[in-house]
Amino acid sequence: MPLSEILAVTDNFNPKLLIGSGGFGKVYEGKLANGVTVAVKRSESGHGQGRPEFQTEVLVLSKIRHRHLVSLIGYCDDGAEMILVYEFMKNGTLRDHLYSMASTTTMLNWKQRLEICIGSAKGLHYLHTGSDGGIIHRDVKSTNILLDENYVAKVADFGLSQAGLPDPDHHSMALKGSFGYLDPEFFRTFQLTDKSDVYSFGVVLLEVVCARPAIVNSTAARREEINLAEWGMAWQKKGEIEKIVDPSILGEMNPSSLRKFAEVAEKCLRPDGVDRPTMLDVCWDLEYALQLQQGTPAREEDDDDDDDDDDDEMSAGDDSAGDVDATATDSGSVFSQHRVDGAR
Ligand SMILES: Nc1ncnc2c1ncn2[C@@H]1O[C@H](COP(=O)(O)OP(=O)(O)O)[C@@H](O)[C@H]1O
Ligand SMILES: [Mg+2]
Repeated sequence: MPLSEILAVTDNFNPKLLIGSGGFGKVYEGKLANGVTVAVKRSESGHGQGRPEFQTEVLVLSKIRHRHLVSLIGYCDDGAEMILVYEFMKNGTLRDHLYSMASTTTMLNWKQRLEICIGSAKGLHYLHTGSDGGIIHRDVKSTNILLDENYVAKVADFGLSQAGLPDPDHHSMALKGSFGYLDPEFFRTFQLTDKSDVYSFGVVLLEVVCARPAIVNSTAARREEINLAEWGMAWQKKGEIEKIVDPSILGEMNPSSLRKFAEVAEKCLRPDGVDRPTMLDVCWDLEYALQLQQGTPAREEDDDDDDDDDDDEMSAGDDSAGDVDATATDSGSVFSQHRVDGAR
């Protein structure tokens, strides 16, 4: 897109249209000439390094369309400006609806949280295995899971760090990712894999169930509470995860649904990538946790509208769905023996 169009869309980067800022730069709400609302991300550090990679990557990413991925609508690469234009997500980030809530955001109940987790797991599964396959997100976190006007979850900002995008926060690409979410295996191997995304997703699952950040910065926090993954898993090992569950949803939770959910988080957070499930396994397990919540073990009369398209998208990798039980080697957790096929 030409810079002139971006300037028109954002009213010359009108500060009144600013909706947020992150590692890449400032994000503005804008309107395209055809009336579609977009989120415009403007890079703050146009070093120009890695430009060709950036362009190739952005071209690939802008072709990806999936119900649970935020579409990249276009980009602008002009002089010092590097700008990305995304589909606008009306209900903001998942994090906004879990804690540090602004007065305008609404609280999510347990079923909504499960559906959001399932949606984002489907989006990540598609990135990992879909037709444009083999894309590692590299920055899975609760601010990169956005909610549209119907609270449908969409994963944002995927695959960009591969493009050699200038990252003002970090000097090396190797350090891409956000603290509290980073796969510990990465520090041993310096390899990011799709299982690194699975680890980060496990941290998001804990955030969703506990309604607290991945890292607590407060000096008041006790040492063992600083890192959510460590803290959450310590409670899970004791079999007392309910003690750290968000009090506002504890009452409505079916205990078996919570148990299943915590089990998924535990599997995602395993120290070695090979021991972690695939995103497809995670999808099925979370679907099962949702069924347990609804008291409908075999899912038939589900009224939610995302059945058809999503199940098709998941079916590409169905083979591995049956492996769920086989990977359940951790003696500490109780695994239900549900047949994934039966759950469909
Ligand atoms: N597509 C979008 N639709 C609506 N809001 C968005 C969109 N993308 C980003 N935002 C908002 O802008 C903020 C900054 O985004 P970003 O630069 O990706 O940093 P981060 O993901 O670390 O928060 C987000 O937290 C969110 O509030
Ligand atoms: Mg983001």
